Amino acid sequence: MIRQATVMNDRINIAIDGPAGAGKSTVARLVANQLTYIYVDTGSMYRAVTWFMTRLGIGPELPDKVLEYARNMVIELRPDTDGQKVWVDGEDVTPYIRTSEVNGLVSQYAQIEGLRSHLVFLQRQMALNKGVVMDGRDIGTTVLPDAKVKIFLTASVKERALRRFNEMNDADRTSLEQLEQDIAKRDTLDEQREISPLRCADDAILMDTTEMDIRQVVNKIVSICRSQKDGERIT
Ligand code: DC
Repeated sequence: MIRQATVMNDRINIAIDGPAGAGKSTVARLVANQLTYIYVDTGSMYRAVTWFMTRLGIGPELPDKVLEYARNMVIELRPDTDGQKVWVDGEDVTPYIRTSEVNGLVSQYAQIEGLRSHLVFLQRQMALNKGVVMDGRDIGTTVLPDAKVKIFLTASVKERALRRFNEMNDADRTSLEQLEQDIAKRDTLDEQREISPLRCADDAILMDTTEMDIRQVVNKIVSICRSQKDGERIT
C-alpha cells in the first residue's frame, strides 16, 4: 500500500488589481494583516521611481536613462503600523510619493517597458516564498499569473474620486471635480498603454465596491482566500 501524506502548504499568493482609488491598498493591507501575510504595494514602487527621476530631472521621454538609474536604486518596502513605508537607497521617501506632482507623472513612467520588466522582476522575487498579498494593475495578468486568488476591485469614478479626496491632507487637496478628471485620465492611460495594460485577468473575481464598505470587501476576500488555500500532496 502506498502511504500518502498530505502536507498542507498553507500559503498562497493573492493578486489584487484595479484602477486608481478602488481601495486596493487599504483592502490588500487589511487582508494581509488578517492572514498574517506580507503586503506588497507595487504602485508605491512606480511612485518611488517617479519621485527619484523628477528629483534628478530625468523625464519619462528618456527611457534608457530612467532604466539605467532605476536599476541602481535600492527600493525597499517596509511594513509599518499604518501601512507600508517605501525606502530608496536607505531613505524613507514615503512622504514624497503621493504628491500631486507624482500623481500627475507616474502613469508616464509606468509606460516604460524596460522599467516595467525591472520592477516586475523585483515583485516576483518578493512573492517567491508565497504568503504575499500584492496590489497593482498587472499582478493577476503579468506579475503573478499563477496567484491562487485574483481579485479585480473597481468602483465608479465618482466614488473613487471621493475616496481619494477624503484621504488627502489639506495641503494637497484639490477640488473633487479635478480629482475625477485626473482619475479618469489616469484610467485611460493605464488601460491603453501597450505593455501590461490595466485589465481584469480572465480568472479574476470582479468586485464592484461602489456600494460596499472596506470591512465587507475585506471579509469577502479573506473568506475566498481561506477556501482556496493550496494543498500539496506528497506521495
Ligand atoms: O496604485 P497607485 O495609484 O499608487 O499606482 C501608481 C501608478 O503606477 C498608476 O498610475 C499605475 C501605475 N502602476 C502600474 O502601472 N502597475 C502596477 N503594478 C502598479 C501601479
